[in-house]
Amino acid sequence: MHKVIFDTDPGVDDAMALLFLHRHPEIDLLGVTTVFGNVPLELTTRNAQFLHREWNISAPISIGAESTLDPSRRDDRAASVVHGADGLGNIGVPQTIDWPLDSRPAYQFIIETVRANPGEVTLVAVGRMTNLALALRADPGIAGLVKEVVVMGGAFDVIGNVTPAAEANIHGDPEAADVLFTAPWKVTIAGLDVTMKTIMTAEYLDVMVKSGDQPVQLLSDLSQYYIDFYKSRVGIAGMAVHDSTACVYLVRPDLFTLRSGAVRVVCGGIADGATIQSPDHGRKFTGSPWDGHPSQRVCTDVRSEEVLEVIRAA
Ligand code: BDR
Ligand code: CA
Repeated sequence: MHKVIFDTDPGVDDAMALLFLHRHPEIDLLGVTTVFGNVPLELTTRNAQFLHREWNISAPISIGAESTLDPSRRDDRAASVVHGADGLGNIGVPQTIDWPLDSRPAYQFIIETVRANPGEVTLVAVGRMTNLALALRADPGIAGLVKEVVVMGGAFDVIGNVTPAAEANIHGDPEAADVLFTAPWKVTIAGLDVTMKTIMTAEYLDVMVKSGDQPVQLLSDLSQYYIDFYKSRVGIAGMAVHDSTACVYLVRPDLFTLRSGAVRVVCGGIADGATIQSPDHGRKFTGSPWDGHPSQRVCTDVRSEEVLEVIRAA
């Protein structure tokens, strides 16, 4: 059983990932922590409450960071063009949702849950990495107690999606991501290299809806705006299921090709938010900013049809 804390900014593809984690029989969802990103924190938290209520998810929700680790940097660029002004495809989520929230801030929830389950918790981060960086800053000792950190973020051998250099989750808080990638814990990164290969078409979603599974109807409703975005702005038929792809790694790592090496994030300049790995095998860059940092795993390829099947089955 994989004990998971899901750090998220719902978000259409976050919603699918949440339902996947809730449903998968080998996953025990210990909690959900929210972070600013696709929409402001108030809305990502409200959306988590909404999805929990609609899908009857009992895992606690804890409120996280509303802006970047470095207060002098601000990421105000909500992705409403991608996810809708409400973050869930403009389906008309009520302004407020009557659903309980944990009293602890997200970083504290993460620290206490990791310390209560030493060596057992996997942190799955699919929004800005701010909450995890704050948790590390408050209690660096958790790095040695976490089983694994699985991240949706970055663009290594492919083009970005916010700028040519950078992917949204990293670009939204590069300093936080650099803290996370250079900490002494096991990090596995599923970035655009694999998530842009994992495209779910509207027809595929329709077949899931026709199975009569009620929660999938909501998933389909809130995905239409996101599918339209991919068609009109990216030019592909279907939607990239970024966050679910990272979640599938938990239960089917065999579907991914991994490359090991230190990972750093460019903080500033025209390549702000770019993720660069120095592979372990090949030329050594002694004395460079990568030297001396832990080797992390980057997903470079994926068997995407099978990933979609794992999602559908859940
Ligand atoms: C990532 O950014 C967000 O828009 C998505 O939810 C996903 O986590 C993709 O770049
Ligand atoms: Ca996300």
